[in-house]
Amino acid sequence: MKKAIVLGGSRGIGKAIADSLKTIDCDVIATSRKELDTSNLDSVKKFAQDKETDILVLNTGGPPAKEFSSVTVEEWQKYHNQLFLGFCVLLQNITVRNGGYIFLISSSVIKEPNPRLVISSAYRLAFTSVFKLLSKDFGAREISCINIAPGLIDTDRMREVIANAEDMKKTIPMKRFGKPEEIGDFVKAIIENNIKYLSGVVINFDGASSNYTL
Ligand SMILES: NC(=O)c1ccc[n+]([C@@H]2O[C@H](COP(=O)([O-])OP(=O)(O)OC[C@H]3O[C@@H](n4cnc5c(N)ncnc54)[C@H](OP(=O)(O)O)[C@@H]3O)[C@@H](O)[C@H]2O)c1
Repeated sequence: MKKAIVLGGSRGIGKAIADSLKTIDCDVIATSRKELDTSNLDSVKKFAQDKETDILVLNTGGPPAKEFSSVTVEEWQKYHNQLFLGFCVLLQNITVRNGGYIFLISSSVIKEPNPRLVISSAYRLAFTSVFKLLSKDFGAREISCINIAPGLIDTDRMREVIANAEDMKKTIPMKRFGKPEEIGDFVKAIIENNIKYLSGVVINFDGASSNYTL
């Protein structure tokens, strides 16, 4: 049986991934902030100690929607840890077994920075660079690294960030938000079908909302 660790697995996209993996041959540990707070490096180090897994999903809560002028130094520091350094420390300390998978839940802001989400835009892109570089090292051990960049997915987080959800929906080609289960099923399909060569990539999970080609 494969072992999976899904961070931020108590709600939203992370929970959908954890629930989906539970339907296949997987022993799933899904964490909430109680077990692991990625903004707190002591919590990260304690959690990572002696952990070994086949599947690791790097996921955490998103930062507040703020423009550059209103972000405090404390917020930059907290989300530097939460969205960047915490994940680096986890990857340095958790053993991912040969032939495994690492999924990163990032955001569409890595391709198109959003001025209302300046903290998210900055740190997610920084970690995306590290993740891309590491995909080569992990590739040597047949570990696939897949960066999922969601657009608007119907979760608590999205409802917090989007004030006028119904108007926003009309701007999406599919005229609806994504379902967290669609991401859960995507992750499950990759693992279930033993797809390995899809690695070092970003998957835009946005219902055709984006305008960029790559
Ligand atoms: N939904 C979207 O449309 C969308 C779009 C682009 C990017 N994203 C990003 O994708 C990620 C998941 O989004 P979501 O919509 O599923 O969010 P969500 O519904 O708010 O769920 C967040 C999950 O992360 C956990 N979490 C929160 N703060 C944490 C921390 N400091 N350390 C570790 N875990 C923490 C939460 O645990 P608790 O239950 O303990 O709070 C929960 O399990 C977020 O980073 C979000 O910004 C989402």
